[in-house]
Amino acid sequence: MKSKNHIDNLISSFSKNFDKKLVDLIPKKKISSKHLYNAMKYIIDVGGKRLRPIFLTEISNLLGVKKENSFRTAASVELIHCYSLVHDDLPSMDNDDLRRGHKTCHKKFDEATAILVGDALQSLAFEILANHKTHKDSKKRIMLINELSKSAGCEGMVGGQMLDLEAEKKKLNLKEIYNLQRLKTGELFRFSCVSPCILAGKNNKIKMFENFSSNLGLAFQIKDDLLDIEGNEKEIGKKTRKDSRKGKETLISLLGKEKARKKSEELISSSLEILKKFGKDAENLIDLTNFIISRKK
Ligand code: IPE
Ligand code: IPE
Ligand code: MG
Ligand code: MG
Ligand code: MG
Repeated sequence: MKSKNHIDNLISSFSKNFDKKLVDLIPKKKISSKHLYNAMKYIIDVGGKRLRPIFLTEISNLLGVKKENSFRTAASVELIHCYSLVHDDLPSMDNDDLRRGHKTCHKKFDEATAILVGDALQSLAFEILANHKTHKDSKKRIMLINELSKSAGCEGMVGGQMLDLEAEKKKLNLKEIYNLQRLKTGELFRFSCVSPCILAGKNNKIKMFENFSSNLGLAFQIKDDLLDIEGNEKEIGKKTRKDSRKGKETLISLLGKEKARKKSEELISSSLEILKKFGKDAENLIDLTNFIISRKK
């Protein structure tokens, strides 16, 4: 593993380039409401770690995918992620005022705008995938749209978000919590790790990257839950202790911090094991995988 500086530089140089291109994908001239455009742009401008896009891009590089194809696919998953956060923060869901160190969408604008921004970001994600610039082969584009629909919708993130709200009111066992986390968080990581195989036409690698991402996604959510307890609000850019205040069942409320941390380390080790066969070519991916649980935000 390289230094902390290396991973920080990797993420910041990626984001600088990615964010600029992402804003340009918002069809400014075609959006009649300036208010809607401003609110969509605000969500991109406040940043975020862009971890799903980085994983997608690094795996794409490993598999020899064209840059523009991986960029557009990475943009689509980030837009879905951004929409999920805008809705997650709404008063009827987690009721949060702070996101990525800035006011949440409904606080900066209003609730109706936040709902519409989420809707618009979601549609835009699919419009991007459907465009021939994402891949000249329409069969591959349909596969991508199919996978992102499943990852984002009722079989994926939205399904998990519903279970997550239910977890405020009822006790869950370990298996149920794993399932909830696999859906609400793991599924978008799954798309990020599997879509490069589709773009590259290497469908025989899908299973391997699905296994890689399922460990990664679970470890990511355990770390998110740990940061909710131990993190520094200024550093992570969102309110802390939200889960316990809501009485939300998480892996930590069930296992305790140490066991949960150990579990996240085991999951990351399994993901790293999968990367071994790529040797030196996977250096960045190895660093990113370690970062999932070493991160402070
Ligand atoms: C936060 O995701 C929401 C979860 C799925 C736990 P990130 O930690 O990736 O959020 P940003 O994109 O960096 O703000
Ligand atoms: C949200 O999980 C996951 C999503 C699908 C948006 P959390 O509610 O734990 O995410 P944070 O802590 O608000 O970022
Ligand atoms: Mg939530
Ligand atoms: Mg939340
Ligand atoms: Mg959280």
